[in-house]
Amino acid sequence: MSLGRTLILKLAALRPIESLVRKSFLFRPVVKRFIAGDTLEEAIAASEDLCRAGLMVTLDYLGENTTTKEESLAAVAKFKEMLTRIGQSEFASMINISIKLTQCGLDQGDDFAEANYRDVLTHAQLTNTFVRIDMEGSDYTERTVRMIERVFPDFPNTGTVLQSYLRRSLDDTELMIALGARVRVVKGAYLEPPTVAFPEKSEVDAKYVEMSRLLLARGNYPAIATHDEAIIKAVRAFAAEHSVGKERYEFQMLYGIRRDLQNSLHAEGHPVRVYVPFGDQWYPYFTRRLAERPANAMFIVRAMLKK
Ligand code: FDA
Repeated sequence: MSLGRTLILKLAALRPIESLVRKSFLFRPVVKRFIAGDTLEEAIAASEDLCRAGLMVTLDYLGENTTTKEESLAAVAKFKEMLTRIGQSEFASMINISIKLTQCGLDQGDDFAEANYRDVLTHAQLTNTFVRIDMEGSDYTERTVRMIERVFPDFPNTGTVLQSYLRRSLDDTELMIALGARVRVVKGAYLEPPTVAFPEKSEVDAKYVEMSRLLLARGNYPAIATHDEAIIKAVRAFAAEHSVGKERYEFQMLYGIRRDLQNSLHAEGHPVRVYVPFGDQWYPYFTRRLAERPANAMFIVRAMLKK
């Protein structure tokens, strides 16, 4: 992980910085770039605009690490509301959701989180909607993988995310292939020690391509989630060489990032899905986006210095 990225993630975790970023109007335009709005209706409007342009959507209600069971149940109620609302959209078949197990109450216990996750999946079956479990920091990886192993056999409308920066991810890729569960491949966005994650970008990128190849060859409709053009090129080349049709995988990108690339891939006939986050708990998500591209943070620092 680069020094700039580590520094931004560490600084962003400090309370006074969080409070400054949350309160200052200076950050609003940058926040707006990455987050579709505070409310579900704003997110649905943004999603339907994307669908009209031919892109698919995964909706994400921002928030992580609920601290009480009540908070988790409120998040679960929100997920169900999202599913019901998606079911009413003319673009229902193009929209799914991504959720986090810590929102379902993983910090309050595996059994509690699993019951909540199953509850969301039961609701999602009514509208035939896919629910993906985002992957969080490495403290949760093992429990997340085990949870998918337990739940997927009952709910084929679910899948997860694997991060190429984690040393364990090739094994997890094989496990998900054997299970038949859908995987989204990402590089990984959390601050991780070198004992669990590759520190060098070149290694993270190489593992990304390796995991993608395994999934394209033997996986279940993988999602290649990246804005990295070199990786996208490598994935397309592998798919073409091995006759993996465009309908057998999709590209995914984040709301507000590389819209040009989203559109050009779509124009070339690739399924493309945009990850659309909404809600007022935007701070952790926002800081991960800043850290990915220190130029985003420098833009803000420069604006502050000019004041
Ligand atoms: P990389 O960081 O190398 O960026 C490649 C290029 O993309 C950059 O040069 C720049 O042009 C552009 N770019 C990337 N990030 C940018 C930014 N923030 N602002 C402006 N330009 C940017 N992570 C995780 O740990 N768990 C998860 O569940 C998910 N889920 C997820 C879903 C989807 C749909 C995506 C696209 C990503 C995630 N991620 C994630 C985040 C992922 O781990 C990773 O941090 C980001 O995708 C950035 O990495 P890239 O693959 O884009 O490459």
